[in-house]
Amino acid sequence: MIALKEILLQATREHWSTGHFNASESDHMRAICEAAKEVGTIVIIGTSEGEAKHLGYDIAVSIRDGLRKEFQIPIFLNADHHKSVEAAKAAIDAGYDSIHIDLSALPFEENVAGVNEVIEYARRKESGISVEGELGYLRGDSKIQKEKIAIKPEDYTDSDKAAEFVKLTGVDRLAIAVGNIHGISLDEPVLDIARPKDVALVLHAGSGIPDEQIKAAIEAGIANIHINTDIRVAFVSELRKTIGEHLDEVAMYKLDASATKAMKEVIIGKLKLFGASNKV
Ligand code: G3H
Ligand code: ZN
Repeated sequence: MIALKEILLQATREHWSTGHFNASESDHMRAICEAAKEVGTIVIIGTSEGEAKHLGYDIAVSIRDGLRKEFQIPIFLNADHHKSVEAAKAAIDAGYDSIHIDLSALPFEENVAGVNEVIEYARRKESGISVEGELGYLRGDSKIQKEKIAIKPEDYTDSDKAAEFVKLTGVDRLAIAVGNIHGISLDEPVLDIARPKDVALVLHAGSGIPDEQIKAAIEAGIANIHINTDIRVAFVSELRKTIGEHLDEVAMYKLDASATKAMKEVIIGKLKLFGASNKV
């Protein structure tokens, strides 16, 4: 299977973006793969620490293996926003393909040291693991925000610091704070992407960002976009509706079928928006 690093370089060069979608259930993982297969592209399935604990690290890896066999497309499993070296190592031990070690809350030097420890550990285990670091302050979480979230100038990723971070760590990917907020915010986000070009750039918090801004971000060099809230909302809204309409039904696999389909449709739309069609 082609390495994620190569795919990200290709995406940056050709101005399209890979999609990263979060999952906390096997049904979600399947919906992500069905969508990617239909669009004809590679895909990254992400599990945050909470999502990974819910699924189980080893189980997530086994499901990925089963999905690879079934769909025959490049599927990568990413430990998303893992906030400690220990958590990142646990994901590496379980067999994840990719780690997002998010130590952005720590001072710069501690962030660099932690990322380097994870990279060293990953390289010792298996050379192909892709490692993402994060610099800047990304506010919010993956839900519909009830209050306005103000972004401060100091939240933004500083270009020079980012270049230094990449040089000191050698990360494969860098998550940047460029006006994005996790979740669907009350204000329309305005992105400002004038960031380093010597690393694959990752745009987190892709939900609720208008299509034109997503396209501009990809044009500016974003090679990977994370989406969680938009697909959570699609799934849960449809599930609520179906349960309301079928109060006597108790078979969960029947109740959540249309919710999974709704999630898949959103993913297909995003992948097409990212220009990822026919990029297997
Ligand atoms: O890492 C996950 C993503 O950044 C999800 O953000 O919920 O705003 O789509 P989102
Ligand atoms: Zn994120």
